[in-house]
Amino acid sequence: MKIEIVDSKTPKRGSLVLVVGEGRQLGPFGQQVDKACGGALAKAMAAAARFSGGKGQWLEVLAPGGSGLNRVLLAGLGKATEIKAVAYEAVGADAVKRLTTAGETDLAIAAEVLKGTLLPAGEAAARAALGARLGGYRFDKYRTKMKDREKPTLKVVSVLTQAAPAAKKLYAPLDKLADGVTITRNLVTEPANVIYPETLAAECRKLVKLGVKVEVLGEREMKKLGMGALLGVGQGSERESKLVVMQWNGGKKGAKPVSFVGKGVCFDTGGISLKPAAGMEEMKWDMGGAGAVVGAMAAIAGRKAKANVVGVVALVENMPSGTAQRPGDIVTSMSGQTIEVLNTDAEGRLILCDAMWYTQQRFKPQAMIDLATLTGAIIISLGHEHAGLFSNNDRLSEQLTAAGKAEDELLWRMPLSDAYDEGLKSPIADMQNIAGPGFGAGSITAAQFLQRFVIDKTPWAHLDIAGTAWSKKDRPTVPKGATGYGVRLLNRLIADHYEDR
Ligand code: BES
Ligand code: MN
Ligand code: ZN
Repeated sequence: MKIEIVDSKTPKRGSLVLVVGEGRQLGPFGQQVDKACGGALAKAMAAAARFSGGKGQWLEVLAPGGSGLNRVLLAGLGKATEIKAVAYEAVGADAVKRLTTAGETDLAIAAEVLKGTLLPAGEAAARAALGARLGGYRFDKYRTKMKDREKPTLKVVSVLTQAAPAAKKLYAPLDKLADGVTITRNLVTEPANVIYPETLAAECRKLVKLGVKVEVLGEREMKKLGMGALLGVGQGSERESKLVVMQWNGGKKGAKPVSFVGKGVCFDTGGISLKPAAGMEEMKWDMGGAGAVVGAMAAIAGRKAKANVVGVVALVENMPSGTAQRPGDIVTSMSGQTIEVLNTDAEGRLILCDAMWYTQQRFKPQAMIDLATLTGAIIISLGHEHAGLFSNNDRLSEQLTAAGKAEDELLWRMPLSDAYDEGLKSPIADMQNIAGPGFGAGSITAAQFLQRFVIDKTPWAHLDIAGTAWSKKDRPTVPKGATGYGVRLLNRLIADHYEDR
């Protein structure tokens, strides 16, 4: 499917989407189309009594007379004064979803701005194009027996606008953003027999063509560095653990980078503290944090951001076997701190603590953000609407929260304090990897664990994305399945706060 931005002109064939404001308000372009088909659109709206142009309403008019078009779809945007840019993303996304498998090949979306809406025309069009890409995401790779009527037919999506040059300029970086989100969704969707540490590292290597410097460390190198916590998690697996370091140096030479660290448990069986069978297949997406970091690096490098950014992903497979780590084992992390592993299923923090330590020691980042599908408990706290945000820094927290609001990847800040840290005291080592029974606050104690590996007040934020990396609910720009959560958020964080102007 190709997406293009072109000057407004009524198409002669295919299908056309027009936006409509509350009270069946058409824009000048919509009125022109309506006139060309003898008022058929206004009549259709009147006939469909419930269609008022409200937000999210759709009305399909088939073959309106004289137009030559297969369909005109009217997309309600609600009250003109309240329409925001994201509404155009939703129109682009829903339009593509309605027509992908409808037998149509050509879709035009007239992304005009209605009277009363305060939005530049170029922005509306660029966002509609972004929506078309994100909403049109599919993963059909393993469906070899799809019936013809299930197969996508849409070839070209043209976004029509009066501000094509501005729209194209705004869309160029959004196109790279969509590339990043797509990379993440694909990685997270792939099963664990296809995406494991080595193959995920190979996917990271592909960012070289965007100008990213990529290094892959194997178990030998990690052992030399003293990453006993990370290596302990992977020791039960046949697959070799990897640590991938990705550097994008688009900023001032020598300026401290912003760093992203991702949990990449390519499959989490729980290890010897084995998970129940029901639902275990979901643990193929326990590398969602790493996936988001790879996608964000692709977006940031793809649009040539003027910033220095480092992405580090810790890649392991958590398996039970004769060589697996046992409950009660004590490991020494790269920081020198020892950890009593009471539960081998609390493995994410064990790989992150070494990856975080390495990142800070090597890069002295001005900020460090880790992303991890870390705890089931965060789903109890926040469900699937917000990811959990834990941080030692108010400014970074505010920046992240604002970026999340702007991109519709919401965050909710959770507390950290010494009282929670108490739960990690071990009678035999420097800490244990889980708090004792009855302590509660599972997501917070996990974050407290990570905070023990933050060096010298480095501004740090931990995003627990266990509830947001995968979705069972369809949303306009986020179809069911792997959401790509975190890519838009991190990309926006860099764009708004860490780029040279
Ligand atoms: N990967 C899981 C967390 C998770 C659960 C992610 C459900 C997505 C959906 C993590 O490694 C884990 O197993 N956490 C345990 C921690 C516990 C042993 C303290 C959990 O949440 O149950
Ligand atoms: Mn686990
Ligand atoms: Zn896990």
